[in-house]
Amino acid sequence: MAKANVVLGVTASIAIYKALEVLSILKKRGYAVRVAMTEEAQEMISPVVFEALTNAEVYTDVMEEIESDDTNITHVALAKWADVFVVVPATANIIAKMSYGFADDPVSIIALTTKAHKIIAPAMNTDMYLNPIVQKNLEILKENGFVIVEPIDGELACNTKGVGHIALCEDIVDVIESSLYFKHFEGRKVIITAGPTAEPIDPVRYITNRSSGKMGFALAKMAKFMGADTTLITGPVCLREPYGVKRIDVERATDMLDALKREISKAEGEIILIMAAAVADFKPKEYKESKIKKSGSEFVLVLDENPDITAEINRFAKENDKNLIIVGFAAETNDLIENAKKKIEKKGLEFIVANDVSRSDIAFGSDDNEVILIYANGKREKINKASKEEIAFEILRRLI
Ligand code: CTP
Repeated sequence: MAKANVVLGVTASIAIYKALEVLSILKKRGYAVRVAMTEEAQEMISPVVFEALTNAEVYTDVMEEIESDDTNITHVALAKWADVFVVVPATANIIAKMSYGFADDPVSIIALTTKAHKIIAPAMNTDMYLNPIVQKNLEILKENGFVIVEPIDGELACNTKGVGHIALCEDIVDVIESSLYFKHFEGRKVIITAGPTAEPIDPVRYITNRSSGKMGFALAKMAKFMGADTTLITGPVCLREPYGVKRIDVERATDMLDALKREISKAEGEIILIMAAAVADFKPKEYKESKIKKSGSEFVLVLDENPDITAEINRFAKENDKNLIIVGFAAETNDLIENAKKKIEKKGLEFIVANDVSRSDIAFGSDDNEVILIYANGKREKINKASKEEIAFEILRRLI
């Protein structure tokens, strides 16, 4: 069964090809998609392309009828079927029509009929986008519950650079997916650490570990989807931050600790901290300012212990009267439960997420995980093997 139903409205901007990319990501992630196109959009890309990708008829004419269970009026049937209605790309023209309740094309007529979540991704020339009339129309849409995936700065079709370039497709999909989650964490602050830390030896070398950062990034995405004001403090990883998440890049464990202290100092009220980072326990005792040269066949590197970030942050929060709830991770290769339990008390954790990093099908680098949650009172809960996003949702659900 499809995760949810999405009606994709397509209008005639040069960014129209992005609609195909958004559609393909949605299909890969398990969503059912139906497409509605304005007449001008059909002149840019044939509806046949969208039909091939969705295996369904495209809605191309307001008078056209499709078969459906309870009505043959297409815009009513599609409007009812949709859980999310998204316009990619949204031109200044469709924005004006939707904000004033026009209903004379297949896209604006669904906008006016549907009770689904409504999202638009504008794309146009900078001067058009910044025109107060367009801005006013966008405000009207926002007031009426539309979510705008803001365009970004970039190269535009008119050979200029500026704001108006359509948002990244992955970001548009994040906003679509996010609309389907209940905002349990609205008004709450969640800080997540992710990835490895990298401890420099000299300007070209460092010590690190195998963490890919995927678990931490999945947690940040779900926290944001569930409405949290989310900050992600990450070591060096090659991952895109989820839409709307504040990202802070760090290298060393001590940089991660400093960034955490700054974020916690700024935050008001309850703060949830999830320590998914695989912090390097040791760092080179001495950093060499210039590249170390080979001298002989042996090289001895002396290491110093890094601070235990979690234990230190726990102390820092107490000293500064901060209401901090901490969840830790325990990466173990043996005696999983026993080792994890010891860390709960030592680090002042609400609970610990224990995972077995010796398994190649889960944990480091994998898209899946299987974890056991261990609480201070000894209670244990297993979360069966699932995607890291599903595991992240389950972890966060226990903090609602
Ligand atoms: N952690 C931390 N500071 C460190 C090391 C780890 O805050 N210097 C955090 C991790 O982010 C994780 C938890 O502590 O949430 C447990 O990490 P883990 O590497 O499993 O444990 P360690 O405390 O490093 O103990 P050991 O390596 O001996 O198992």
